[in-house]
Amino acid sequence: MSVSRVAVVSGGGRGIGAAVAKRLAADGHAVGVLDVDEECSCETVEHIRGSGGVAIALAADVADETSVAAAYNRLIAEVGAPTVVVNNAGVTRDALLHKMAPADWDDVIRIHLRGAFLMTKAAREHMVAVKWGRVVNMSSASALGNNGQANYSAAKAGLQGFTKTLAIELGRFGVTVNAVAPGFIATRMTEATAHRLGLSFEDFKAKAAEQIPVRRVGVPEDIAHTVSFLVSEGAGFVSGQVIYVAGGPRG
Ligand SMILES: NC(=O)c1ccc[n+]([C@@H]2O[C@H](COP(=O)([O-])OP(=O)(O)OC[C@H]3O[C@@H](n4cnc5c(N)ncnc54)[C@H](O)[C@@H]3O)[C@@H](O)[C@H]2O)c1
Repeated sequence: MSVSRVAVVSGGGRGIGAAVAKRLAADGHAVGVLDVDEECSCETVEHIRGSGGVAIALAADVADETSVAAAYNRLIAEVGAPTVVVNNAGVTRDALLHKMAPADWDDVIRIHLRGAFLMTKAAREHMVAVKWGRVVNMSSASALGNNGQANYSAAKAGLQGFTKTLAIELGRFGVTVNAVAPGFIATRMTEATAHRLGLSFEDFKAKAAEQIPVRRVGVPEDIAHTVSFLVSEGAGFVSGQVIYVAGGPRG
């Protein structure tokens, strides 16, 4: 397989990020699979290599500047400078406002917003140097509001503002910046929500599907397909957009 560009996918160890990393590798990118959970990243990397692709596992916390810098240094030394950044790492700390601890607020804002900021800032010089780049930020349909997710909704709406501003700042360098806002996608994150609500994951998915116009929940590959489009050569005139991938107009 010939490798064209170097991509870095945060939270690439499992769920949506793993599907994105695999898809970008299949599209011909060398992929830095960055995750705070090193074991998960290694699984994604093994899968990519087993399919003939190029990938390395990068253990890092996206919200820690030193950790991000070390991961980028390794990626650049071993594979090359990244010109595709997918800011996908995320966590939930759901609670109604009166029960939400400041630490729940801080963790979610820090990982989603500070994480995307640090990851994108570290890649900027490499994209500007070659006058080409693609940034995709993982927002959420929860940006429109969702019970028990004041922290997460604020972070995901914040990522949309981050996306639009960087699209304006970086456009002159051939860099596009877009956001994908998934609706319900079956992953460990939604499985944990089911358990928090006292439902089996199967029942939770079935109930969710009833409310979704296409009558199914999403799978990580639905999101990977959209990211693949946004980072493609042909998508160079699409920038500053938020694409809801939710089986209908909202999640
Ligand atoms: N699953 C959904 O329905 C859904 C819907 C909308 C948006 N999203 C977003 O999509 C992204 C991926 O979600 P998912 O469902 O695959 O979740 P997931 O929990 O399965 O995977 C998240 C990954 O991010 C990693 N991660 C967490 N904190 C990190 C940190 N500080 N540094 C580096 N890596 C870190 C985790 O280790 C994990 O591998 C998240 O940003 C999430 O908010 C998910």
